[in-house]
Amino acid sequence: MAKQKITRVAQLKTPSDFTDHLDKIGTRLPFKTNLSKVGKSSLGTPLTLKSGFEIGNRFCILPMEGWDGTIDGLPTEHTKRRWQNFATSGAKLLWGCEAVAVRHDGRANPNQLLMNEKNFPAFKELYTDLRKGHEEKYGSSSDLLIGLQLTHSGRFSVPDVDRSRKPHTLYKHSVLDEKFNLAKTHQAMTDSDIDELVNDFVKAAGLAKEAGFQFVDIKHCHGYLGHEFLSAKNRTGKYGGPLKNRLNFLRAIVEGINATSKIPVGVRLSAFDFVPFEKGEENVGVPSSFQGRYNEAFGGDGTGTGIDLNEVFELLEQFEELGIELVCITAGSPYYNPHVIRPAIFPPSDGYLPPEDPLIGVSRQIYITSEIKKKFPNLVIIGSAYSYLQEWLPHVGEAVIDKGMADFVGLGRMVLSYPNMPEDILNGNKLVRGNICRTFSDCTTAPRTGMLSGCFPLDSYYKEMPEAAKLKEFKKKVRL
Ligand SMILES: Cc1cc2nc3c(=O)[nH]c(=O)nc-3n(C[C@H](O)[C@H](O)[C@H](O)COP(=O)(O)O)c2cc1C
Repeated sequence: MAKQKITRVAQLKTPSDFTDHLDKIGTRLPFKTNLSKVGKSSLGTPLTLKSGFEIGNRFCILPMEGWDGTIDGLPTEHTKRRWQNFATSGAKLLWGCEAVAVRHDGRANPNQLLMNEKNFPAFKELYTDLRKGHEEKYGSSSDLLIGLQLTHSGRFSVPDVDRSRKPHTLYKHSVLDEKFNLAKTHQAMTDSDIDELVNDFVKAAGLAKEAGFQFVDIKHCHGYLGHEFLSAKNRTGKYGGPLKNRLNFLRAIVEGINATSKIPVGVRLSAFDFVPFEKGEENVGVPSSFQGRYNEAFGGDGTGTGIDLNEVFELLEQFEELGIELVCITAGSPYYNPHVIRPAIFPPSDGYLPPEDPLIGVSRQIYITSEIKKKFPNLVIIGSAYSYLQEWLPHVGEAVIDKGMADFVGLGRMVLSYPNMPEDILNGNKLVRGNICRTFSDCTTAPRTGMLSGCFPLDSYYKEMPEAAKLKEFKKKVRL
């Protein structure tokens, strides 16, 4: 596919410019031309959980790592600032804050946070500061729900300072093993390795509860270990094969938690996945080649780029049986198909030029999330991938909540550049154009070069760091 000219969202000045553009590119999005008056928007309506807890509004901050912890997995001043921005954004649901590893060998990078007994006091302090910050700004935090995302990075583990990949896999993968140079001698995790890991998740969940967090997310997305279980069809033994077995990892964790801390469990789920993409003609992303059917995409239809939600629906039925109420929908993986998980006009340095108008990627996630919500009205469903909507985020977000297409609008990259966007929307303030995320992807490119993440183009805190100049130099060399 040759390079296509993509119209920038900032050039779409009026609601009809935006909706005409959607028609032109052959996609659709729910859209509310005239936003509701202050106090009348569905985005400001509380949602009550089965427990009776009332979440104050329909904005959720999605988890976002900063690659800025210490090598022992403790938060730094940068981590604290980022989390504090989440807590004072105006959103009333903080989904996990960021991915926190349950043990050292599952860290995605040497600076990823790590939950263990030694680090526990720091997590308790982080949690306490989130509540305090929110209370100082809004008077009370009784309607703020805060979870912690727990993870093991599986085949994308890079735990040590030498930054070498130390993968943990579940089965032989027809594309990823080669793409990420898995050693021929590499052995997949054994069932007893997994049993041990289950205990680490249960322990970390107990510590999260003690620190104050109100739920834990057992991460099942983005190509990390939890997600890999969902596609482990060709693994034998109790953790692979039929869907029932592929869920045994989550089931064992939930049972362990129910027998100990009893902290509520949520799941962030890649509800669909595509085959890995790679650079094609003029660096535009194209699907990698594979033989026969591509069965390794959970929620895929076997073609590599199509979606079939039948297994996803079966999975969600099981979630309901396990007592899971909160589900955050996302898709794909930042490592092998970044345009699927986070639509962007400017790709990260290890990516490829967009193979489609990024609004198509936004629409894909919004409508798949809506199909899930329709089928599972009792689950609390959080949507993702709204940041690329830029100026039009409030118009799409309010329409989504009005129509019941999701329960929460999840915000990722947008809160790195514009932390209080939820508050501005709810207060009817004019959006601050200079803070709107334009998806430059520096928040991903910086960590790919070993630096911390942040909004280098728009947030003066990062703009002024020496890393900003290094990043500029690096980008000149790798420009796609
Ligand atoms: C810098 C960065 C860090 C991220 N870290 C995490 C993470 O720790 N856990 C997670 O589930 N998703 C993570 N994500 C994905 C986001 O939560 C979100 O799904 C994605 O950015 C799409 O939403 P958006 O369009 O609002 O940015 C990260 C994304 C970015 C850009």
